[in-house]
Amino acid sequence: MAHGRILYLEDVHVSFDGFKAINGLSLDIAPGELRCIIGPNGAGKTTLMDIITGKTKPDAGRVFFGSTIDLLRHNEPEIAQLGIGRKFQKPTVFEQLTVYENLELALKTHKGVGASMRFRPNGTQRDRLEEVLHTIQLPSAVLSTAGKLSHGQKQWLEIGMLLMQEPKLLLLDEPVAGMTDHETERTAELFLTLKGKHSLMVVEHDMSFIRRISDIVTVLCDGSVLAQGTLDQVQADERVIEVYLGR
Ligand SMILES: Nc1ncnc2c1ncn2[C@@H]1O[C@H](COP(=O)(O)OP(=O)(O)O)[C@@H](O)[C@H]1O
Ligand SMILES: [Mg+2]
Repeated sequence: MAHGRILYLEDVHVSFDGFKAINGLSLDIAPGELRCIIGPNGAGKTTLMDIITGKTKPDAGRVFFGSTIDLLRHNEPEIAQLGIGRKFQKPTVFEQLTVYENLELALKTHKGVGASMRFRPNGTQRDRLEEVLHTIQLPSAVLSTAGKLSHGQKQWLEIGMLLMQEPKLLLLDEPVAGMTDHETERTAELFLTLKGKHSLMVVEHDMSFIRRISDIVTVLCDGSVLAQGTLDQVQADERVIEVYLGR
């Protein structure tokens, strides 16, 4: 990559009925980086993920994946195929299927339904499945139906389903919302093991979680970057305290 970036946004603008949700946003992420995004409600954090994944097309700006792939030239399914995985807030696992079957299903989502019915993973894919099962720390639950899992376990399973596709970049919107402290801690451990192997963009409000996982934190406000630095640096920034952290 010429500029050494897995993700590069430059002067991006998005308006909804004249309201500027994203307003001159520039941001870049290095390969293997785990970037945390924080900011008040309405700052544009989810819209940022919508732009990267092709759900929302900006009115202006540049969005590149690596140095050569112009994401604005691709639609949502193509962007997923390029290696960008997204985890929404609400888990969307298949409750009636087992943990194993959910992971298996994630291998074949790009195939047609007919192909899916006949699909059996090959040796490499089975190895990958075992590896992911350990990464998400669910090997003992492999034969449980997903509906029986705790909220946290469902979230990990969904992350596992994304990992089956071997994404280069993972976008995670409020991944620890609704989790117990113990589940939150295990999620921090999981993200720290993913860092380096994948690039991650994590939106969260839980500051102790951010403290646990973050290197660089970007603060969004009114659709652009208000501040960026270590968590200590942005927490000490008067403008960030003003709009987000409170006094
Ligand atoms: N599809 C949409 N239509 C109209 N307004 C939207 C739409 N999506 C987001 N917005 C507005 O854009 C702003 C940014 O929203 P969002 O990206 O969801 O913020 P965040 O995730 O940081 O809370 C908010 O004011 C929101 O109401
Ligand atoms: Mg949001």
